[in-house]
Amino acid sequence: MKRVWKTPELDYYNLYADMLQQPHLLIAGATGSGKSVVINGMMTTALKDSPAAVQFILIDPKRVELVDYKELPHTLRYSSEPGEMVQALQEAITITDNRYRDMARQHVKKYGGGAVYVVIDELADLMTTNKKQVQPILQRLCQIGRAANVHVVAATQCPLSAVIPTPIKVNFDSRVALRTRSGQDSRNILGVTGCELLPRYGQGYYMTPEGCRLYNIPMYETETPDIIEYWRKQKPRIVWNG
Ligand SMILES: Nc1ncnc2c1ncn2[C@@H]1O[C@H](COP(=O)(O)OP(=O)(O)O)[C@@H](O)[C@H]1O
Ligand SMILES: [Mg+2]
Repeated sequence: MKRVWKTPELDYYNLYADMLQQPHLLIAGATGSGKSVVINGMMTTALKDSPAAVQFILIDPKRVELVDYKELPHTLRYSSEPGEMVQALQEAITITDNRYRDMARQHVKKYGGGAVYVVIDELADLMTTNKKQVQPILQRLCQIGRAANVHVVAATQCPLSAVIPTPIKVNFDSRVALRTRSGQDSRNILGVTGCELLPRYGQGYYMTPEGCRLYNIPMYETETPDIIEYWRKQKPRIVWNG
């Protein structure tokens, strides 16, 4: 994929669409820095596509961040209780395994069907509720997900290795770094200090293996509820084949 960097004022749709194309994305920053705003922006962008092309598995330890997306036809599973969240991750693994089986049958190395986004808001909360069970499943999901078009999008306020172990963090080779509380937190996300100097919200660094640059981060105040409402109304009319 060829990446075209846009100037910050231009085309926010492209920024979020690009983030969605990353294998896995980690969004980090202090409380109130706009992590959930980034997640909502990406999901709003993803919802331009039908449930045949985009599906969500939502993990919401805080119980209020992703609940608006629960009733969408795109949502395979919404989970907010500790046991449910582990099951949701396991379901993502099952989907991935099934896709590998299809790929093997068709002799292809990359899955050609729709994208599944496993959205976690927030990862630190998920890890603290059930680290022992979560860590190996999440690690495996990150490792096998990319070729199967299964992507993990995770927000976290605390990128310390005590909370998010290094074997998990290294799988997120694309990152959004919003304002952090300290230079050390910034270093934990980007490898360098600087995020502690960002404005309280509204700007962030977007780092991929190809480079890192500063973006203005837009918030879709009206578009998000509008598109949720649109799909909720469609849900009873969507008939799955098979
Ligand atoms: N990019 C942005 N543009 C406008 N307002 C923003 C932006 N990011 C954050 N905010 C403001 O800050 C508040 C907190 O953002 P939120 O995404 O909930 O932070 P976090 O999830 O990091 O705790 C939002 O409700 C909004 O009022
Ligand atoms: Mg949040």
